[in-house]
Amino acid sequence: MKFYIATDHAGVVIKDDVKEMLKSKGAEVIDLGPDSTDRVNYTDFAHKLSEKVLSDEGSFGILICGTGIGMSLAANKHSGIRAALCHDYYTAEMARAHNDANVLCFGQRVCGLGVVESMIDAWCETSFEGGRHQERVNLIEKF
Ligand code: RB5
Repeated sequence: MKFYIATDHAGVVIKDDVKEMLKSKGAEVIDLGPDSTDRVNYTDFAHKLSEKVLSDEGSFGILICGTGIGMSLAANKHSGIRAALCHDYYTAEMARAHNDANVLCFGQRVCGLGVVESMIDAWCETSFEGGRHQERVNLIEKF
């Protein structure tokens, strides 16, 4: 699996831990920044990452801000991006199984590292189920 990862200043502290979690699963990880806790706009990083995921078929994205909300709102402006704001194993599992989400969003101020690890596990272990869910994903794109 290949992941692009980006944060804002409120998500950057756990970025290296998340990268290590992904690498320990054999995933390729490309860090799109930032590299410090200096204030930045989450929109810049959400848009940058969305463009990368859309231009690299089969890749996934991880976006982390304080809550995950701003990142998911911005990323979902891109047609073809299905950014899921997740909070635990179950929401991450369903994001892949039912929504074919290609970007995982969460909040550094919301989720502890153990929960983050469980979301990464769910994301990596779960495939899109297709079928009736594919029809609904198609309707998202149509809208
Ligand atoms: C930054 O303070 C915070 O607003 C941002 O990280 C994010 O939570 C927005 O949705």
